[in-house]
Amino acid sequence: MREARNGIWSAISGMTCRPHVLVADLFSSESLPIADEFHMRKYVYVPCLACFLALTTYLHVLDKEVRGQYVDQMEPLRIPGCVPVQGQDVPDRMLDRDNRQYNEYVRMGINFTTLSNGILVNTWRDLDSASLDALKYNEILKSVVKVPVYDIGPLTRVVDPTGSEGNNVIEWLDMQPVESVIFVSFGSGGTLSAEQIAELAWGLELSQQKFVWVLRPPAGNTKDGAFFTSGSSVPCGPLDFLPEGFMNRTGTRGLIIPLWAPQASILNHESVGGFLTHCGLNSIYESILAGVPMIAWPLYAEQRLNATLLTDELQVAVRPAVLPVVEEVGREEIQKMVRSLMEGEEGKMMREKVKLLKESANHALMVNGSSYKSMCEFITGCQNNG
Ligand SMILES: *[C@@H]1O[C@H](CO)[C@@H](O)[C@H](O)[C@H]1NC(C)=O
Ligand SMILES: *[C@@H]1O[C@H](CO)[C@@H](O)[C@H](O)[C@H]1NC(C)=O
Ligand SMILES: *[C@@H]1O[C@H](CO)[C@@H](O)[C@H](O)[C@H]1NC(C)=O
Ligand SMILES: *[C@@H]1O[C@H](CO)[C@@H](O)[C@H](O)[C@H]1NC(C)=O
Repeated sequence: MREARNGIWSAISGMTCRPHVLVADLFSSESLPIADEFHMRKYVYVPCLACFLALTTYLHVLDKEVRGQYVDQMEPLRIPGCVPVQGQDVPDRMLDRDNRQYNEYVRMGINFTTLSNGILVNTWRDLDSASLDALKYNEILKSVVKVPVYDIGPLTRVVDPTGSEGNNVIEWLDMQPVESVIFVSFGSGGTLSAEQIAELAWGLELSQQKFVWVLRPPAGNTKDGAFFTSGSSVPCGPLDFLPEGFMNRTGTRGLIIPLWAPQASILNHESVGGFLTHCGLNSIYESILAGVPMIAWPLYAEQRLNATLLTDELQVAVRPAVLPVVEEVGREEIQKMVRSLMEGEEGKMMREKVKLLKESANHALMVNGSSYKSMCEFITGCQNNG
């Protein structure tokens, strides 16, 4: 991002009609000073929840107050007006304070508030009200954050109903009963260990629920690491990691898709009633907008914060007792979670809650809705140049 700055500068300076506003993604906040040279307004866009934004912008205060590693704190981290953050939920870059990445992260939070005219955050009032209120109205937090915060979400891709025509997953789903299928996917970057894949397979099998599973080869240099290069040059595909006879035993109850699936279309299919997700923000929003409750299986970074919000505050997801990155999740626990999501009382309650949340998202985006209003305020702010 540092190296991209010259390119951005030249691109803007080469324009005959220059834009009035620069909006930089959170990782390119270093480009913000370029806007000054061209007398542009400058904003940061944060594609995260408000609790993550509050933590990032308040971090330099915690950095002075807290001694030792955050993960070792007995007390949760307190951010004015926000729900306290458990040490184990902090983003990866906060795990090791001696690492240079950590210092860059602290600095990034400071830069959001000192180099910009405001911060756009991809969330909405009813999803994230405690942290959003704190960012907007808590005097102590406001004195640290300094610039206005605009909740303009949820921004997601629009599902193209014709885009998945002829897709065999959708055709398979068409034949299943309403809300009977759990969709399992760890996103484009998420992979599990070979052992964890096997446990997950057992868990799904034992739950006796219908499933669609986007399966990627295991991560890491496990004993199966040589798998891709050994023997013939034909890749065997991830199916070889499943327990013996799994496909036969689950038969027509399950569908395994290698690597990639049209996620939004699947989630919006009426046969899908649950989503086992790694808690990336796009996945969470796609699930909420489809009215589908979740099993939260965070893999890295801010996903742990995401998972806590979904389970503890919004109650639209269940999650394993121990963080999956800390300890393997066993087949019994997986079976229990899947059953409770798909056919238990808990699942029913979560399904009702997530449907309300879906409505609230649609309201937020409508004329005079909360996100609509924030967007109007942002535009007004852009016009007050000077
Ligand atoms: C949720 O997880 C995604 C993927 O790691 C991350 O980009 C996003 O910032 C997280 N949301 C939060 C905690 O705001
Ligand atoms: C923060 O801003 C300063 C001043 O523009 C810049 O030198 C520094 O690289 C930025 N750091 C981060 C992490 O964004
Ligand atoms: C699995 O099913 C196939 C096709 O029905 C059959 O040929 C094979 O013997 C079965 N394998 C096991 C281990 O049951
Ligand atoms: C939105 O709010 C404005 C100002 O209160 C009002 O004049 C307008 O009728 C509202 N529009 C809708 C569609 O509710």
